[in-house]
Amino acid sequence: RNQEDDVYDFLFKIVLIGDSGVGKSCLISRFTKDQFSMEQQPTIGVEFSTKTIKISDKIIKAQIWDTAGQERYRAITSAYYRGAAGALIVFDITKQTSFENLAKWYKELQEHSDVQIVTMLIGNKCDLTDQRNISKEAASKFAQEYDMAYLETSALQSTNVEQAFHQIIKYIY
Ligand code: GTP
Ligand code: MG
Repeated sequence: RNQEDDVYDFLFKIVLIGDSGVGKSCLISRFTKDQFSMEQQPTIGVEFSTKTIKISDKIIKAQIWDTAGQERYRAITSAYYRGAAGALIVFDITKQTSFENLAKWYKELQEHSDVQIVTMLIGNKCDLTDQRNISKEAASKFAQEYDMAYLETSALQSTNVEQAFHQIIKYIY
């Protein structure tokens, strides 16, 4: 059986949110297609991709939703969050403003999502070590305050990308 047969035990909707340019689309294409582009264009509206994985003998289809970080390109917010079982809130470890805006993203998520949604904090671009502006400690502290797990990823180098998606799927499941 291949993915096209669409046989699965669970279907989970996972949304990614965070400022424009933090790497949401790159994380998704790394996870679903094992591809990365330095010239990734800003997302307009909403896109989604799927990936089917196996966790403890169950076939789980992850439907991963991507939207624009830029306000002017964003689609209707409530539809984006509707039915989501998990959310990855992403910031860029080199970009202070993307970290400062996390509370805003968290608030929007809480306002529009189901109460039991599982959230995880992702510090992306961890390959850019010499440009780091947010320490692991500061990010972990934020994550703890908001009761989220924290993981640092690099879509460029494939660091922790699979782990991030697998971890949130395990939390949901
Ligand atoms: P919007 O769609 O506008 O919300 O942005 P986005 O969060 O989807 O960001 P996107 O995936 O388009 O990535 C923005 C830029 O960051 C692109 O030039 C990517 O190549 C780059 N980028 C993404 N992930 C990484 C990473 O892990 N490391 C490095 N060095 N660059 C990255
Ligand atoms: Mg994008």
